[in-house]
Amino acid sequence: MTLPNATKLDTPIPKLVIIGLGLIGGSLAAAVKQRQLNWTVIGVVRRRETVAYALSKGIVDRCVFSLEDVAAQLGEGDIIVIAVPTLSVPGIMEQISQMVDPRVIITDGASVKGSVVAAAEQAFGQLPRQFVPGHPIAGSEKSGVTACNADLYVRHRVILTPLDVTLQEPLRRVTDLWQSVGAEVLTLSVEQHDAVLALTSHLPHAIAYSLVDTLLNNGDSDNILRYAAGGFRDFTRIAGSDPVMWRDIMCANREAILKGIDLFQNNLSSLRQAVADEDSDRLLDIFSRVKVARDEFSVYHATQPSATNPAILRYTVQPGGRLSGSLRVPGDKSISHRAIMLGAIAEGITEVTGFLEGEDAMATLRAFKAMGVPIEGPDNGAVRIHGVGRHGLSAPAGPLNLGNAGTAMRLLAGLLAGQSFTSTLTGDQSLCKRPMERVARPLRAMGIPVDTQAEGRPPITIHGGNPQALDYAMPMASAQVKSCVLLAGLYAHGETSIVEPAPTRDHTERMLRGFGYAVTTDGRRISLVGGGQLQAASIDIPADISSAAFFMVAATIAPGSDITLEHVGINPTRDGVITILRLMGADIQLLNRRTVGGEPVADIRVRHAPLTGIPIPPDLVPLAIDEFPALFIAAACAEGRTVLTGAEELRVKESDRIQVMVAGLRTLGVDAEATPDGVIIEGGQLRGGAVETHDDHRVAMSFTVAALRAAGAVVINNCGHVATSFPGFVELARRAGISIEQEVV
Ligand code: S3P
Repeated sequence: MTLPNATKLDTPIPKLVIIGLGLIGGSLAAAVKQRQLNWTVIGVVRRRETVAYALSKGIVDRCVFSLEDVAAQLGEGDIIVIAVPTLSVPGIMEQISQMVDPRVIITDGASVKGSVVAAAEQAFGQLPRQFVPGHPIAGSEKSGVTACNADLYVRHRVILTPLDVTLQEPLRRVTDLWQSVGAEVLTLSVEQHDAVLALTSHLPHAIAYSLVDTLLNNGDSDNILRYAAGGFRDFTRIAGSDPVMWRDIMCANREAILKGIDLFQNNLSSLRQAVADEDSDRLLDIFSRVKVARDEFSVYHATQPSATNPAILRYTVQPGGRLSGSLRVPGDKSISHRAIMLGAIAEGITEVTGFLEGEDAMATLRAFKAMGVPIEGPDNGAVRIHGVGRHGLSAPAGPLNLGNAGTAMRLLAGLLAGQSFTSTLTGDQSLCKRPMERVARPLRAMGIPVDTQAEGRPPITIHGGNPQALDYAMPMASAQVKSCVLLAGLYAHGETSIVEPAPTRDHTERMLRGFGYAVTTDGRRISLVGGGQLQAASIDIPADISSAAFFMVAATIAPGSDITLEHVGINPTRDGVITILRLMGADIQLLNRRTVGGEPVADIRVRHAPLTGIPIPPDLVPLAIDEFPALFIAAACAEGRTVLTGAEELRVKESDRIQVMVAGLRTLGVDAEATPDGVIIEGGQLRGGAVETHDDHRVAMSFTVAALRAAGAVVINNCGHVATSFPGFVELARRAGISIEQEVV
């Protein structure tokens, strides 16, 4: 006989009460049950058939017909999810306020947040501190319990709109709940949520219903619909959605939807006028502009690794192989971001070549388009930016989503500090975990209010205005923070200065000078005087040394290798990887050195060489900050011990790179130890195994390289983010001699 486990008796399983087992509530219940998460799932339903169906399919543990039947059993640690049509929420809130222990966490899934929050306030007499309003952006035109799907939320977004009074613990618990069923959780304010959704979801539904209605009201509708084909079907798919749900949404988000309908009516009228006038130029102009935007949107969605795109990539890399030939890796990410930003606020047309067409730099490009900057391309790395001048940006219609791009968010924050409008910057799940106080603090010191979420995380809201000049002793060595302050300084009266604790990449300073803007560098102090103009320039972006680094390490560790990496930027504030690899014994030659667009460039020849572990000189850390994941692989293949210190910044990159790399190295049998500000790695033999990237592009590419020296295949899970910095990585790696397969899982 087995005795019950004592801990199980001590810690009761928390209850997840889902009111309404439709598509949204039912799918959450099914997802929790299928994953065998630690919840007792109780459905509150109205119909007997729902109970029979939900129990037979194992969607719930039990069902009740009224909240009253379960209310008395609920207490601390339990969660109620309200998943009923929006207009039914007030009645449910009323019941909860009367019969449920106030420690129970309340959340919901309604598509409109303002009305739900108002209902909560009305029912409770004040806003409840344990209420976390939410909205899963997942659904379909299907409805009801029979449509529910345990994987509905996988890689879909859930927007939480915590209130000022919402406590941290309920927010954390609700976030965990959604993440545990595969969702990506973002936060927005209630107002932002309702304004954005009115335009992106509610308006399209209104128009789809209205279009079908228009045809129905036409006398001969049967005949017309008989001839309707694919275009009509695609356009009106969402008019097949649940009428009650959409009636409720239209009523609940009335004001914002009315604004959207007015905008649309005006736009349609002007299109009507162009048709009436047979203004073919205007029609072509509208259709071409829209086509570009729509194509871009499709590409964006198709390449989003985490949110809307189900494509989770897994690499499998076979051991062995040696690298040979000449390769050119994609354009420099840091310089690509800056080219768009400075080109946008310059006078005249900036021509860019070598632009990185990766997701991060594309996020910056899209953000500036959303602020009214005409940008052509990218077309094979060529981009034409029609600068609008320092004060020519217009307020974006909603929050700017910067995906995974930390550089975009931090630099933009500085630039937006000088605009006459308020803007909100958000990003994907990984970016929304990264610290933004480091830029918010100096911007506030410049007199610009900046709002961040709990613990200084995104989304951030910048209340642009007239920044005051600042003399800032930067507490950490960060080029992003330096650049943020310098960009805000462009809009300040007088001189803004930054003193850096150690040299960091100086692309912003170089490029500003390239645009004719005076920047002085005096030792560690960098200064500029606000109020000047930027003149458009031509920018030839070199290949990214951070991307080249993977191949530098690969060729170094794989016996018999000899490769040349063409046209790589070797800016002295970025070349730490070369210095460190050489200190370890690498054979690296810089050929054909030249200066291109103010940046030093060379072809880099790398041949295999045995490596020795070293203590990494701390002054090299900022100069190789992005290359440590690759350098850790070099250390793992070296003879002896490598010790890195002074690199605590690695903990706040796209992942905690100390933690994540050490975990992966250990999986591959390497003796690696994380320290608070670095690592200790004993070189040795690597074995095969499966490693996790934690959504970090550079971790994925580093373990790809590690496989060259492993005793068995290395499987790397979740490599979708590689596209943020290195589109075409797999093809290039294959061409160079790495045996890599990728699959969508
Ligand atoms: C960057 C600066 C560095 C670097 C990042 C790009 C830039 O970040 O890690 O990938 O383009 O300014 P920090 O400024 O946080 O060190």
